[in-house]
Amino acid sequence: MKKRIAVLAGDGIGKEVTRGAVEILRAIGERFGHQFSFSYGHIGGGAVDELGTPLPDETLDLCKESDAVLLGAVGGPQWDRLPVHLRPEQGLLKIRKELGLYANLRPTLYYSSLAEASPLKREVIEEVDLLMVRELTGGLYFGKPSERMKQDGQDVVVDTLFYQKAEMTRVIKLAFELAKNRRGHVTSVDKANVLESSRMWREVAEEVGQQYPEVTLEHMLVDNAAMQMVRNPKQFDVVVTENMFGDILSDEASVLTGSLGMLPSASISEKGPYLYEPIHGSAPDIAGQNIANPLATILSVAMMLRVSFGLEQEAKAVETAVDEVLNSGFRTKDITSVETKLVTTTEMVEEVKATILDNETIQSIMGCYA
Ligand code: IPM
Ligand code: MG
Repeated sequence: MKKRIAVLAGDGIGKEVTRGAVEILRAIGERFGHQFSFSYGHIGGGAVDELGTPLPDETLDLCKESDAVLLGAVGGPQWDRLPVHLRPEQGLLKIRKELGLYANLRPTLYYSSLAEASPLKREVIEEVDLLMVRELTGGLYFGKPSERMKQDGQDVVVDTLFYQKAEMTRVIKLAFELAKNRRGHVTSVDKANVLESSRMWREVAEEVGQQYPEVTLEHMLVDNAAMQMVRNPKQFDVVVTENMFGDILSDEASVLTGSLGMLPSASISEKGPYLYEPIHGSAPDIAGQNIANPLATILSVAMMLRVSFGLEQEAKAVETAVDEVLNSGFRTKDITSVETKLVTTTEMVEEVKATILDNETIQSIMGCYA
């Protein structure tokens, strides 16, 4: 198979983790006989410095011509004081909007070898397997007006929470489709006791739910959901929610796996290409030190192989390799504990790569599919 991948490393640790993930894709290509080609584009603060905008047109064109997009992370303190339209985060919001990436899938999986790295008790997180489906191109992060002004001589500010019903319908429908192939349960999160937008969200969830009699639908208020996520996360299968609630809850969910450095994501559009990125940020405090955890980005390329290219065995090979490396005790700094072997970013990538290229691992994966 031949595929063209746009790589937007972005800022901070984005460069280190995407470099590692590209190496993993190359190893998969070598092992399974695929040709992946990589083209690089600017996004975020680096793009502002080089080209005066956080999302240059060239980058957008490159993405549109590619089969999938791999993104690192954007942002850093040196760009925090720029005017709004030049902030690195605007590049990320704009690429989501321009590519129509309406749903962000954020799976949270329990790794038994990482239980010690989570601040939660093992019995709480054991066997957690939840999929957060976050609406990604609407709501408060995109609504206009979003500005400060004067009202009766006072400084006031407004942000706008705007949704079309159709935007709610398509993402909720996707959540139900995904639940059908999982444990058949959708939790729709809202704040319907206060917000009109949430009351509409709830109605839409009911409407969509009627088309899926085999899936059970539960509504949960966002404040309660935040609490349930750490109290009893095993109750969740697919969680679907609007943009800001999803942003907040998915960071919270990452604690269940032990580290933000473990959570991958896939952003889905109607036509493609889809975009894959770790959910963590650019972590400027540790950038350039070769200590960042590359696994969230590596697991994001596993999602790319599965979702964009339909390469299930190859995706499994990456995930199994990550599992094995963790079971062998290798840890980057964020997930290390006394009994483990502390490794750098590049060493972690090497371990995963060596495992992928190792015949026994591959054979055992092939065995599962025989
Ligand atoms: C995320 C990030 C972004 C978001 C920021 C950097 C704009 O927090 O992907 O979750 O809020 O969507
Ligand atoms: Mg976030």
